[in-house]
Amino acid sequence: MKTISASVLILLFSSLAMADVHADYHKIINGELPISTQQVDEIYSKFIQHYKSENSGFNPVEHYITKGIDRKATFANKLQQIIKHNSDGTNTYKKGLNAFSDMTDEEFFDYYNIKAEQNCSATNRKSFGNSNANIPTEWDWRTFGVVSPVKNQGKCGSCWTFSTVGCVESHYLLKYGAFRNLSEQQLVDCAGDYDNHGCSGGLPSHAFEYIKDNGGLALETTYPYKAANGQCSIQKGQQSVGIRGGAVNISLNEDDLKQAIYLHGPVSVAFRVIDGFRDYKSGVYAVEGCANGPNDVNHAVLAVGFGTDENKVDYWIIKNSWGAAWGDQGFFKMKRGVNMCGIQNCNSYPQDVFDAQQAASFLKLQ
Ligand SMILES: *[C@@H]1O[C@H](CO)[C@@H](O)[C@H](O)[C@H]1NC(C)=O
Ligand SMILES: *[C@@H]1O[C@H](CO)[C@@H](O)[C@H](O)[C@H]1NC(C)=O
Ligand SMILES: *[C@@H]1O[C@H](CO)[C@@H](O)[C@H](O)[C@H]1NC(C)=O
Repeated sequence: MKTISASVLILLFSSLAMADVHADYHKIINGELPISTQQVDEIYSKFIQHYKSENSGFNPVEHYITKGIDRKATFANKLQQIIKHNSDGTNTYKKGLNAFSDMTDEEFFDYYNIKAEQNCSATNRKSFGNSNANIPTEWDWRTFGVVSPVKNQGKCGSCWTFSTVGCVESHYLLKYGAFRNLSEQQLVDCAGDYDNHGCSGGLPSHAFEYIKDNGGLALETTYPYKAANGQCSIQKGQQSVGIRGGAVNISLNEDDLKQAIYLHGPVSVAFRVIDGFRDYKSGVYAVEGCANGPNDVNHAVLAVGFGTDENKVDYWIIKNSWGAAWGDQGFFKMKRGVNMCGIQNCNSYPQDVFDAQQAASFLKLQ
């Protein structure tokens, strides 16, 4: 453990955002390890202050799903795992503390309802030709201002609605240059006929079809997010953004995904979350032994770019829906070109988006 570097600790503590921490833990930064029980205690109390206090913006009551768990011991164990991971120079990504660091893996999977695998049965998959000649090696839609702010799905398996809505918001920004904060709850409540299951999972490709057939998505303010299943209450005329042509499903090929992102905008993707992913902090996520078949994916997210890091590792840039305090400001990078955790299996985007409000008022005029 003598090899632990300053950057590892800065990374650990940066998520705690406490200015005095670097001074407090200079002994650790200097390599006097293993970390003492007292230091674990100190870090734990910083963690509680930052993530579990009333004004933290996080909801500890919601997080503590299982009763009788020793939170401090769970946290201490997590902290050791993180230090061990970050001390291993062969890892391509860093881990860090976050709001979930005192939860067991089981609780975490329960919280976001990640247990249910999705059967990614998209039809009519599109290829974009096999020439990468005109595609740049790096692309990040965030730098063009067309990626809407990171949201938090909360205690509900509604990742698929955030992936879908994030994708529609981006495509709307691309086409009209305006941000419309659109409703995930409408999909949770209303898209069940398209083989979606509210807080128990669903697929973006199915959600795009629902949006196409049902006049569009309402604004978040019209149909606010509840992180729970509810009765569909959308009314005619409330839709703000519609879709024409439904879901374009991308072939089982990461080169096609790259071309789709560059040529058409952010793409809804899915992959398999396994233990340890929740601790991601920065770098390029890559693990051994992550199942990657079409029936193994359990989490939908939004791919917003791609690139290659300084060690020549190709990656995707992906927007998650676990809040902006998770990971790298709510985003993560994942290894590209090896179907990491099934990332090639379930990729789609809306063929075209339109302003449903304007379309409705135009129809009234006629
Ligand atoms: C997945 O869906 C397809 C098409 O609906 C179906 O043929 C297949 O049996 C399903 N697979 C699983 C594992 O549910
Ligand atoms: C994409 O796949 C979905 C099923 O996931 C299907 O409903 C839709 O029709 C497909 N899109 C096209 C253009 O075929
Ligand atoms: C968009 O809606 C979400 C609800 O999921 C809310 O938390 C967020 O503040 C809204 N963002 C903006 C920029 O209005």
